[in-house]
Amino acid sequence: MNLFKISKNEDFAQTGANLVAGLLQTNPRAVLGLATGSSPISVYEELISMHRRGLVSFSKASSFNLDEYVGLPADHPESYRSFMNRNLFDHIDIDLARTHIPNGNAPDLAAECRAYDAMLEEQGPVDLQILGIGGNGHIGFNEPGAGLEGGTHVVGLLPETRQANSRFFPSIDEVPRQAVTMGIGTILKARQILLLARGAEKAEAIRKAVRGPITTECPASLLQTHPNVVVLLDEEAGQWV
Ligand code: GLP
Repeated sequence: MNLFKISKNEDFAQTGANLVAGLLQTNPRAVLGLATGSSPISVYEELISMHRRGLVSFSKASSFNLDEYVGLPADHPESYRSFMNRNLFDHIDIDLARTHIPNGNAPDLAAECRAYDAMLEEQGPVDLQILGIGGNGHIGFNEPGAGLEGGTHVVGLLPETRQANSRFFPSIDEVPRQAVTMGIGTILKARQILLLARGAEKAEAIRKAVRGPITTECPASLLQTHPNVVVLLDEEAGQWV
């Protein structure tokens, strides 16, 4: 793993954005793996700014998002489709038809998961997968536990994850209890992975992910098995590594 601790906000965003932009400059048809949550927002803002300055185009790129809540209408402000449109897609030249996010309202979720994996198999591998990390070490919505699933699947969200994400909802009762997420196997198939973490509340998860044993009890620790991971941390998230 290649660790970078970056104290200035602008430098954090710039470093992440440069990795994405550099990839698109050498391979305009790159397949991007995208994440939601607060961690990637400044990187997306920087990419939007670079796009406005003519420094990067997404016109031939495609994207696959990691996850989506089950049961939120697609136009709900906290659905990951709404998040991606609002924070990135509406401001760049990507063809929306080539942006993929699991459908958490599909009538047959198992079939939706299989179809998502089939699309990834056909159009992938993902060239660069962006990841955040949960305070409990989850990536995507792969929650810690006795085992992990390889492919896209439906997960029950742990109480701590619903609690953490309740900051985006009027009350915790409105936070969905399930999500569709790419599995660890799918995530690890990406050619390169960019893990972003900011803030002291991520420090312990980052320590376990980077320095701890490889264990399903910290899903992000599986990233240690991948040959090409870049970890961008601010001082607080990186205080124990
Ligand atoms: C969410 C998402 C993850 C994200 C994580 C951290 O639940 N499913 O993909 O990485 O939690 O979010 P944040 O960056 O807001 O701390």
